[in-house]
Amino acid sequence: MKTKGALLWEPGTNSGWSVEEIEIDAPKRREVMVKLAASGVCHSDQHLDDGVIPLPWAPVLGGHEGAGVVTEVGPEVDNLDVGDHVVLSFLPSCGKCKMCVSGRSNMCELGAGVLAGYAPDGTHRVHAGDKGVGCMSFLGTFSPYVCAPVDATIKIDKDIPLDKAALIGCGVPTGWGSSVYAADMQLGDIVVIVGIGGVGINAVQGARLKGAGTIIAVDPVPFKQEQAQEFGATHAVGSYEEAATLVSQLTNGQGADRVIITVGVAHGNLMNPAQEMTRRGGVIVLTSAAPILQRDVEFDLFTFAMSGKRLQGSLYGTTNSRNDIPLLCELYRSGQLKLDELITRTYTLDDINQAFVDMQEGKNLRGVIMYDD
Ligand SMILES: NC(=O)c1ccc[n+]([C@@H]2O[C@H](COP(=O)([O-])OP(=O)(O)OC[C@H]3O[C@@H](n4cnc5c(N)ncnc54)[C@H](O)[C@@H]3O)[C@@H](O)[C@H]2O)c1
Ligand SMILES: [Zn+2]
Ligand SMILES: [Zn+2]
Repeated sequence: MKTKGALLWEPGTNSGWSVEEIEIDAPKRREVMVKLAASGVCHSDQHLDDGVIPLPWAPVLGGHEGAGVVTEVGPEVDNLDVGDHVVLSFLPSCGKCKMCVSGRSNMCELGAGVLAGYAPDGTHRVHAGDKGVGCMSFLGTFSPYVCAPVDATIKIDKDIPLDKAALIGCGVPTGWGSSVYAADMQLGDIVVIVGIGGVGINAVQGARLKGAGTIIAVDPVPFKQEQAQEFGATHAVGSYEEAATLVSQLTNGQGADRVIITVGVAHGNLMNPAQEMTRRGGVIVLTSAAPILQRDVEFDLFTFAMSGKRLQGSLYGTTNSRNDIPLLCELYRSGQLKLDELITRTYTLDDINQAFVDMQEGKNLRGVIMYDD
């Protein structure tokens, strides 16, 4: 089918997104066509443009946070029908590999191919003129239609509004899971969440849902500080230094139980201040993407070892999409998880570059591209 999509022809050069005509093939084996209601605008797509996540191929159709309705079903699809409502998961899970069967489907072996520039079968599903287009996360939600692998497609109940459900494809589970699973939040914990974007605000929600006693949000943008408090933060400050002083005051110098890093771009100099704020036996979670070739981190290894701290990476919040996406829908339905309030601004696909400008200026918890035709 002919439709339009937002492409990067020169990833890593800050050239911005080009909205143009694309052609999407009909679904092949174990694929479905999904008509999207909306796509979230996540910082990870910005990383394709600014080179934090370098791509050795082009063009790329961006976008990995979407939800919609199945309009066509390819061969060998036995769990989805036309008309089903689905959330697209930015990481696929095959349900068969060692990681999937041991309850760590965020690290499914299919994930190795999400930035390879091809559909899982090694061919292109999207074309721009005579050029094959690679899709972010096998998806490419910066287009009103996505030909998606069934392994990245999670059926949800039809009462959940699809434009809100789109955010459950990346930012919500990544942030929520960073608190609930990766940080292993405990009742009464004192937690610091650094960076209140689409991911960090959901880490605030996860901490609140797990019964954290004190939630300190850190972000230089006053709007983000206000929003964090709406979502359950007990305190909000503008910098690491202020957070460190506050933690010290609140804990008599002991430190926070968990520090979760969800800033837009991680750099090595964020890590030791996080450990200094963490108490003995506490956990530091790193969720943010860092420039792929960055290796430099100054870290007080002696204190780290001798005070039994843990540094935990967090991919997709350590969630299992087939379990956690329906669970997040249920938490939304029962009023425990905010989704509507996450959407600060909506855009048309043609306005996508403005959505990224607004994201970088800190104007949005999440900007969302709406597809309404
Ligand atoms: N690990 C994963 O599975 C995963 C999944 C999705 C996104 N990500 C990554 O998570 C990060 C956050 O994504 P997002 O969409 O929420 O981004 P965002 O741009 O919406 O939010 C980032 C926030 O960090 C704040 N910030 C920047 N520097 C800061 C600092 N030094 N101290 C405190 N706050 C600071 C900004 O003001 C902004 O509010 C990105 O690096 C993204 O690529 C990781
Ligand atoms: Zn994302
Ligand atoms: Zn798997």
